[in-house]
Amino acid sequence: MDKEEQDRLKKLAAVKAAELVKPKMKLGVGTGSTVAFLIAELGRRKKEGLNLAAVVTTSSRSKKQLESYGFHVAELATVDQLDVTIDGADRIAANFDGIKGGGGALTMEKNVAVNSRQVVWIVDESKMVDHLSGFPLPVEVLPISCVQNFKLFQAEGLNPQWRMSGNKRFVTHYGNYIIDLNIDPIPVPSGLADYLDHTVGVVEHGLFLGMCNEVIIAHADGNIEDRKK
Ligand code: 5RP
Repeated sequence: MDKEEQDRLKKLAAVKAAELVKPKMKLGVGTGSTVAFLIAELGRRKKEGLNLAAVVTTSSRSKKQLESYGFHVAELATVDQLDVTIDGADRIAANFDGIKGGGGALTMEKNVAVNSRQVVWIVDESKMVDHLSGFPLPVEVLPISCVQNFKLFQAEGLNPQWRMSGNKRFVTHYGNYIIDLNIDPIPVPSGLADYLDHTVGVVEHGLFLGMCNEVIIAHADGNIEDRKK
């Protein structure tokens, strides 16, 4: 699928998802190119009078775009619980487990997701898989012990690779680094998530297990599938 076609599908999924956004909602807005289409649609609706109780987002990029449409963006800590969060994803398995963090915003994305009553992911059909595979797993690590983490992952056979930005290590919103693990497919996602959750120095990882309730998938034939758990 070429980029133009993929963008067309991303936009279809995003516009469909925007229908879930109702006045007075507390809304979580994710990160990425698919979400950028969602924000543009929300901006259009704002001009028509859409009034939300609160908007929280998962990256400075999305925040800037939301503000450009006149939305006030609140800090997650000031909002009790979000009604719905709409975000993109890098891979989604048949059981709605996902890999996220391709854009490096996984830590905020997971914090927003677990504080939302409903989590909706919007994707083009190329992101859908039977079992989690086909995308490196991002792991955000503290700079203080990142080299030890890298060596540990090497020793565990997890094929780590530093996320780069030009010739420098990519730095997250929180000043950390990302190590991408090349495991394809991920045989037991819950086992790997448990291991990473208990590895000192790991801030967060891109396995989002049991967090998503609904997936809106744009298919190449133009069909928009709304799959609920
Ligand atoms: C960012 C993410 C994004 O949601 C994910 O990478 C999908 O991005 P895109 O919509 O650009 O394909 O997890 O950390």
